[in-house]
This record gives sequence, C-alpha cells and structure tokens, in this order.
Amino acid sequence: MNVLLIGGGGREHAIAVALSKSPKLTKLYCAPGNGGIAQVATCVPIKATDISEMADFAKREAIDFVVVTPDDPLALGMVDALTEAGISAFGPTKAAAMVESSKAFSKALMAKYNIPTAAYRVFGGDVAEAVAYIHEQGAPIVVKCDGLALGKGVVVAQTVEEAEQAVRAMMEDKQFGDSGSKVVIEACMTGPEVTVLAFTDGKTICPMPAAQDHKRVFDHDQGPNTGGMGAFCPSLNYTPELAKCCMDTIFRPTVDAMGKEGRPFQGVLYFGLMLTPDGPKVIEYNARFGDPETQPLLALLETDLLDIFQAVVEGRLDEMTIQWSEKSACCVVLASGGYPGKYETGKPIFGLDQAPEGAQIHHAGTRWDGDTYQTAGGRVLGVTAVGDTLEQAVEQAYKTVPLIQFEGMHYRRDIGRK
Ligand code: AMP
Ligand code: GLY
Repeated sequence: MNVLLIGGGGREHAIAVALSKSPKLTKLYCAPGNGGIAQVATCVPIKATDISEMADFAKREAIDFVVVTPDDPLALGMVDALTEAGISAFGPTKAAAMVESSKAFSKALMAKYNIPTAAYRVFGGDVAEAVAYIHEQGAPIVVKCDGLALGKGVVVAQTVEEAEQAVRAMMEDKQFGDSGSKVVIEACMTGPEVTVLAFTDGKTICPMPAAQDHKRVFDHDQGPNTGGMGAFCPSLNYTPELAKCCMDTIFRPTVDAMGKEGRPFQGVLYFGLMLTPDGPKVIEYNARFGDPETQPLLALLETDLLDIFQAVVEGRLDEMTIQWSEKSACCVVLASGGYPGKYETGKPIFGLDQAPEGAQIHHAGTRWDGDTYQTAGGRVLGVTAVGDTLEQAVEQAYKTVPLIQFEGMHYRRDIGRK
C-alpha cells in the first residue's frame, strides 16, 4: 500500500516509524513531515491544512490510504474530502471532530447524554455577562476558549480577577482569534489526571494503556500550559476497576452518543480525564492521537498499526486483537528557549546519532539543511525510552537527554517522577 501521513510533529514521527514496519507498506509519504520523518518517509511540501492540494497529490501518486492526525485538518474536513475523492482515510469526519473543535459542542453532548464532566456555561459575545457569571460563581474557576488553540486556550483561574482577564483576552483582545469568540466557563475539578486514547470504528472501542501528560512548561507543574512537555504510560493511577467504570460511564456513552447524533466517530478518540472524589470526569475530548502521548504509547504497541487503521476505517475493529507490551514507556520533550512564548529557530542540533539501546529520538520541530539538523519549532525533539518498570523507562530517557544539545534547549526534569 502507498500510504500518506498528514502532519509534521513528534507524534507523526512516531506514527511514521510504526507504519514503516508494516509488511503491507509499499511507500510512505508524509506531508509536510519534518527532518526526522524524512528518515522513514518521503516528505512532501504540502501544508497539513491544504485539502485540495492533498487530495490532488493523493490521486496523482496513487495513494491507497491516508492517515490524518493533526486537529486542524480534521476540523476542516480533510477526511470528508478524501473519502469523497474515493481515497480511504483514517480519522474522524468534520462533524465528528467537533468533539474537539468546539468545547461548547462537547459540553452540550456530555450534558445531553449524562456523561460526567464539570458544570459549565457558554458565553458568546457578551463579555459583561461572562464576567457577572464569574463573580457569581467565585474562584477557582476555569475559562476555556471554544475553538482550537494549540492546547493553550485554557486558564485555571485562582482568583476572579484572573478569570475576568482571561475572558477579556479571549473575547475582546482575540488572543486566539475566532477560537475565542465563544468561551466556556466551568467549575474547577480536583484530582489526578489520566489520558486514555481509544481506537474506535464507531462501534467497537479499544482503549490503549492509560497515559499521563505534563502540560505545564516547568517542573512541579509550574508556568503556563504547553502542547505537552512529556508523557508516560501506563498510568499507575488507572486500575482495572477504574478502566471498567470509565468504559461504562464515559467511553461507551460517548461513542454511542456520537452515533445517535448522526456524527459516528471513527479514528482515535482522546479522553482527558480527572479522577475526582466523585469519580472520573471528562476534562476534554480530542479527536486524534495526543502529542506527546503517542510517542510512549506506540513504543508499547505490538500489533501492526496499519492493520489497526484499516480495521477502523472498514468498521471491523471487532475482528482485531490489539497487543500491548507489559513494559512502561516515557517521553521527555526538548523545547526551544522561550517556548511556549516567543522562541528562535535555526539552532544547530548536536548528538542526534547517539540514542542508546532502548531509547528513540522523535523529531517534532526540526529541519535538515543538507548538512545538520536545525531547530524549527517550539517543541523540537522527544526522547522516548522503554523499561521493565516506569522508573527504568524514566531513568533511560533522562540518561539519553544530555547526549543532545542545542542552544536554549530546555526540558522538564520530573516527567514520570511525581
Ligand atoms: P484542556 O486543554 O481542556 O485539557 O485543559 C488543560 C488543562 O487544564 C487540563 O489538563 C487540566 O489540568 C486543566 N483543566 C481543564 N479543565 C479543568 C477543570 N474543569 N478543572 C480543573 N482543571 C482543569
Ligand atoms: N498532549 C495533549 C494533546 O495532544 O492535546
């Protein structure tokens, strides 16, 4: 099969490596890809959101199967367009991707189908009304912009002033453009967080091992939110009893609800969960693989990923047995100085050829200039290691990190160590 993967981050590098191992694969393309992905795929300079260029390329190159992983092409209807053009594509339709692209939609879905989540209200334009609600509810309180915001559109405000500022930044100053024209204001939940990603064809649900992300930029969960500074799996918080409870009260009801709403979900559904004193509740859905959760998860996957993708698209996930290693995996993200704020790019990267046994280096924001790899994004690389225990995976990842260097490099030192 000729396969085209859409995207160009650490997540896509890990997916490209997994796909490249499939005996079914003839040729792998990635658009736009990055410096590391170019080692296992032919990179094509088409923007991930350019639907018509992508469909033309897929037809021209006789692509049999397309894998769409980033949030923005999914929200724009990339899968719908490819399917209409007669090309088999993995990922949810635009209508199904709304579980991620509109928080107002996902909150209404959860309310309608009694799926546990924080109490909330949506405000669409009237800042004064939103501010009055914040004063009425008091702090702590959570302000979220409705649309996509690179994982940065959420403010957990400790004071009403902070919440008010967040609302004004989103609605008045348009900090996230149109994504913030509506805001969701919700109650603050407490408890440990786990992330469960599940393959689903709209009927069968196959959860992956539970993972934990580290969203804040600095150690001990300090500083602003990022796209994710590291992740590990499996999460020790996620017991078999909890897994059953989540399946019965969250995963199954969500997938069934999407079917009933005429938006059957096929692809990877990402459940961001908080284990509150009243049981597990949904923080957010994503309509795709998480980044960096995918890197440690795929390090434990023992089944052919292309087989799984095909079974999802063809609605026969019930025929698959998906095998996961019993080991643990940990990914530490190496970021550019300044990220998640302003940062410079074009810094040469040293030490990329040194990954020891048991560790993998995934490129997120890199570029090959014909001579060296250079930084080309906020999250630059991810070091993923596997171990018999979580401690061993963490230790191996942190032994590998210092082998890599670029100017301004920073990373968290407490991934998997909480
Ligand atoms: P999200 O992008 O919606 O996953 O939110 C980013 C982070 O904000 C989550 O990982 C949580 O740590 C935090 N968060 C979001 N919603 C809530 C909430 N209702 N209560 C407490 N923390 C939250
Ligand atoms: N790591 C969080 C996300 O992919 O949205």
